[in-house]
Amino acid sequence: MDGDFLTQTSLGRWVDRRRRALRRAVAVLTGTDGSSAVESAYARWAPIYDWVFTIPLVPGQKAAAAVANDLGGRLVEVGVGTGLSLPLYGRNLRVTGIDLSEPMLRRARERVRRETLGNVDGLHAMDATDMSFEAASFDVATVMYVVSVVPDPAAVMAEVERVVKPGGTVIIVNHFASASGILAAAERLLARFSEKLGWDPLFPRETILEATSMELVSESRHGPFGLFSMMVFRR
Ligand SMILES: C[S@@+](CC[C@H](N)C(=O)[O-])C[C@H]1O[C@@H](n2cnc3c(N)ncnc32)[C@H](O)[C@@H]1O
Repeated sequence: MDGDFLTQTSLGRWVDRRRRALRRAVAVLTGTDGSSAVESAYARWAPIYDWVFTIPLVPGQKAAAAVANDLGGRLVEVGVGTGLSLPLYGRNLRVTGIDLSEPMLRRARERVRRETLGNVDGLHAMDATDMSFEAASFDVATVMYVVSVVPDPAAVMAEVERVVKPGGTVIIVNHFASASGILAAAERLLARFSEKLGWDPLFPRETILEATSMELVSESRHGPFGLFSMMVFRR
């Protein structure tokens, strides 16, 4: 059977998911899996995350929420963290969040209660590379500051594409490696502490473009010094 045909059919996607699950199980068993490092990094970040990251990260979240609010419908936020972005979504959106880290999710759930966010349907502990949602469950997906955190960003992109309806929208917000200059030097320095930080400061923009066949409909810069890019894809 032709490889392209397999990747386009539901059988192909099922085989792909099983293959990824197997790869992940082997990685866990052989101790080469990055997720435990990610989980311990975010268990450390959880108590101080909002305090450290609200100022730099909220502009990108606001930009993504503005796009989503114009669309409405069912939205999944992949790697929702402490739920910093949840109050930004309009009431025309029904919101589901997933994250690998229980300490981060606990804070997101507290926020939903504290701010009585009635449009949040659920916050689930789930791996972005293996979500338990049916295919085409959502109109919109937001993936903010996550693709440079996960060991397998291509698997996240494939899974996000699976759970969004054809014609739906996928919004990626992230910092991508700078080509040169003072920022590039700072990124190289930070990269030495990548595991402790819980993200890869040298993450290339091309990784996302190569991982998907979705149409890139817009790209813009946000946050301090335009550090973060927002990519909007049509599924
Ligand atoms: C930098 S934080 C971003 C949180 C949130 N999106 C925001 O904008 O504040 C990255 C989040 O991705 C989560 N994460 C990392 N790997 C994941 C995975 N494989 N599946 C789901 N979430 C994951 C982490 O637990 C963390 O909460």
